[in-house]
Amino acid sequence: MTKLIGFNKIKTAIFISGTGSNCRNLIKFSKLKNSPISVHLILSNNPKAKGLVFANKFKIKKKIFKFKKQRKDEKEILKYLEKNQISLICLAGFMKILSKNFIKEFKGKILNVHPSLLPKYKGLNTHMRAINSKEKFSGCTIHFVNSNLDSGKIIVQKKVKINKNDTPKVLAKRILKQEHILYPKAIIKLFANL
Ligand code: GAR
Repeated sequence: MTKLIGFNKIKTAIFISGTGSNCRNLIKFSKLKNSPISVHLILSNNPKAKGLVFANKFKIKKKIFKFKKQRKDEKEILKYLEKNQISLICLAGFMKILSKNFIKEFKGKILNVHPSLLPKYKGLNTHMRAINSKEKFSGCTIHFVNSNLDSGKIIVQKKVKINKNDTPKVLAKRILKQEHILYPKAIIKLFANL
């Protein structure tokens, strides 16, 4: 009989600012038996972020840091993450830029999902910019976070076709669906050998 070898799942925090569909998707993924992660915290800079409902729904801790005093908040977040042995942060629609110091001090990996085919269209309004530039394709990217905006090493990408009459909203929706497939893929790719 095959013996299943148990493993400790990677304690993960998800940082959000808005709807949290990627957050919800990652939580669902974390609950699969063979998923390498378990989600222990949802953190938001925005107390009104819709995605915070998933903390109650899935009985996960939530924390709000408004980032008005970013240095102070980041220090507290680092302390909290260390105390709770969090070793993976998944940014999922988190609209604050983490400081160089935070990235350096955090003893783990930080991943981000970005709605474009990086290195194209870093920053905001990616869909509008891709459509206005008459791109045939856009897509999404999962990458490591480093101290330059949307510039860390790429883990996986997915191309999405831009249709003739696409508005930014329509394109965003189509890409978001792919983000939900891509983020778990990136995590599996990174931690497959556990
Ligand atoms: C996603 O499309 C994500 O790629 C994007 O915000 C959306 C969040 O959706 N992130 C960025 O633009 C980061 N620069 P969600 O809250 O439903 O996951």
